[in-house]
Amino acid sequence: MKKIVTVIGARPQFVKASVVSKELRKKFKEVIIHTGQHYDKNMSDIFFEELSIPKPDYNLGVGSGSHAYQTGMMLIEIEKVLIKEKPDYVLVYGDTNSTIAAALAASKLLIPVIHIEAGLRSFNMNMPEEQNRVLTDHISSILFAPTDDAVNNLSKEGINKNVFNVGDVMCDSVLFFSKQVKKNNIGLIPIYEEKKYNKWYLTTIHRAENTSNNKNLCQILKTLNDLDELVIFPVHPRIKKMIDELENENHYQNIYFVEPVDYLTMLYLTKNSKKVITDSGGLQKECYILNVPCITVRDQTEWVETLNNVYNILAKPEYNDLYKKIINAKINDKNKINYYGDGNASKKITDILSKEYFQ
Ligand code: UD1
Repeated sequence: MKKIVTVIGARPQFVKASVVSKELRKKFKEVIIHTGQHYDKNMSDIFFEELSIPKPDYNLGVGSGSHAYQTGMMLIEIEKVLIKEKPDYVLVYGDTNSTIAAALAASKLLIPVIHIEAGLRSFNMNMPEEQNRVLTDHISSILFAPTDDAVNNLSKEGINKNVFNVGDVMCDSVLFFSKQVKKNNIGLIPIYEEKKYNKWYLTTIHRAENTSNNKNLCQILKTLNDLDELVIFPVHPRIKKMIDELENENHYQNIYFVEPVDYLTMLYLTKNSKKVITDSGGLQKECYILNVPCITVRDQTEWVETLNNVYNILAKPEYNDLYKKIINAKINDKNKINYYGDGNASKKITDILSKEYFQ
């Protein structure tokens, strides 16, 4: 049986692995490396438990640091494992520092790289994620793109060989796990009981462009605080520290700050929210799939299809623009197109790998 080493390290990658590993293991031997990029219980362990992700065979415990430190430490540690395991392929997801570190370590050992979620572009090279995804695509041997747009982006950069549009693996997870979401199995203290609300806005903000200066973060928080319903904000640990330094969280009476939540709780909160305000890539797409209006606090999005029919609107981190767009957001759902597939991307990936590459 051929061997694939999968490298994951950050929250969205755990969600993707939960559906892909299940399929891959029907045909391949899979070894999982967790880089340790995300290490808090709520950012990591909880996902492995709830989504039944196979326990990592290696945890590198790299943790936090500057981009160079984090990526460099991963590169060194991943290389050691690859030399020992001698896999036929290395599989990576998305655009994090764990992705580029694994792709680079494999590529230098001449181990072919499989990139899932290839071809996405924001065309903003100031984003660490854009640097990671462009570089990873160019050193990958097999590229699984989630949409036609992603395939076109690769083609414009001269990458045409071994590119497959299989649909989006995150769509697989949304469709699969949505069925398991019930009020009584959500991990959070039920909001409707504690705060007597049954509708809310949901927000997640963590991108460098919105959080590296206090001005943008303050404008976003002030806007959320002025909305007409409660705003639930599961806060990334880094942003929690920043908010604590800025103001006492009681300053924002209309914002309910909670610890990062597990995946089923997040799906529950998303499905039942009035609107979502975010800068996360994955959440924009989950909103599209679940028919929830999304306001994305960024200048551009990699998931350009979500902008059609006003499912998703881009907004600036400025009070007037953001407030107006949140209040006015309304989906025009005539002619909704299913851009992200039918929930079978993981199966298609496994079939293509086993039929075309591992004869
Ligand atoms: C990373 C990804 C981003 C992705 C996000 C998903 C990169 C460049 N960015 O951003 O694309 O959207 O994950 O959540 O890879 N921290 C903790 N506990 C943790 C993890 C992080 O306290 O478990 C704190 C640390 O202070 C750390 C900081 O958060 O320095 C940033 O973490 P890092 O993994 O570098 O980037 P993210 O912002 O999480």
